[in-house]
Amino acid sequence: MKKILSILTLLISVVTIGYAQPIEPVPASLWDDPMITFYVVVGFIFVVVILVLFVAVYMLQVLNFMVKQATRERSEKLGIPYKEEPSLWAKLWSESNDFVPVEKEGDIMLDHNYDGIRELDNHLPPWWKWLFYGTIVFSVVYLIFYHLSDTLPLPLQEYQQELTLAEEQARKLKASNPVAAIDETNVQLLTDATALADGKSTFLNNCASCHRKDGGGDIGPNLTDEYWKHGGSIQDIFKVVRHGVQGTNMIAWEGFISPEKMQNVSNYVLTLQGTNPENPKKPEGELYKPKDTPADSTKVQASL
Ligand code: HEC
Repeated sequence: MKKILSILTLLISVVTIGYAQPIEPVPASLWDDPMITFYVVVGFIFVVVILVLFVAVYMLQVLNFMVKQATRERSEKLGIPYKEEPSLWAKLWSESNDFVPVEKEGDIMLDHNYDGIRELDNHLPPWWKWLFYGTIVFSVVYLIFYHLSDTLPLPLQEYQQELTLAEEQARKLKASNPVAAIDETNVQLLTDATALADGKSTFLNNCASCHRKDGGGDIGPNLTDEYWKHGGSIQDIFKVVRHGVQGTNMIAWEGFISPEKMQNVSNYVLTLQGTNPENPKKPEGELYKPKDTPADSTKVQASL
């Protein structure tokens, strides 16, 4: 019995270790996780404990065997017939499967007899009843913890908690890494030469095939005139580059180009304004007059 108890305790402690961890923000790499040493140590201890247990069980069995051997020898010497005690496991097995053997079923046959159909009054197997009582106990515990005392969260509450946590994480990420978090609400107008040069190279590599090297337009619209199908502010352009225009050849570049590079290329597109390339595609969309950026950005934010 002790053996079983200790195995149970071990199992319970291992399982609860997993649950006791607070939900931490997901680190970029596994090895950045400050908890990793903890996990490694716990894992190591776990393996050691399993090994020790294994050896202990083995030693116990050897000991048991030796004790039996000695008892048998002694009873032989004294001339008493030796009767082996059933093992713990065997006892537990017969206790949990305590049914009436087939030969004795006549004793538990009920009196009534319907057209030859008779009823055997066998009881339920004890292991089944134990499970059943176990579920009753569990349901009471569950009721108390989840519904009466509110100690533990129900699935919906848990979901809400995770959502709040994720929002907080996203906020933190934005604050800690502004470049990775550029989107159409906070994209900047840049005049920095390196950024624009980077935007140009991105444009020549990815965009020129449709918008032409000089931005004069081919499969895609002319980007040098004041007419835009989706608006000519930096936010509008970034949005089109990031999300693309569904159903057209303009794909969403998010995932192919980093947010920073999308910001650079969008700014480069703006520098093409008024460059009057040769043989341009005729204007498409509406005339766009640049407004003050702050007012503009609120408009974009509101439309999101
Ligand atoms: C495979 C062709 C193709 C490529 C490559 C392409 N575009 Fe486009 N682009 C289009 C088409 C087609 C449209 C017009 C979509 C529509 O009809 O609304 C467009 C529209 C645009 C617009 C909006 C123009 C307006 O009038 O509002 C911008 C800005 C733009 N592209 C920038 C880019 C940038 C920057 C890249 C490179 C990162 C790029 N495009 C790559 C085909 C392309």
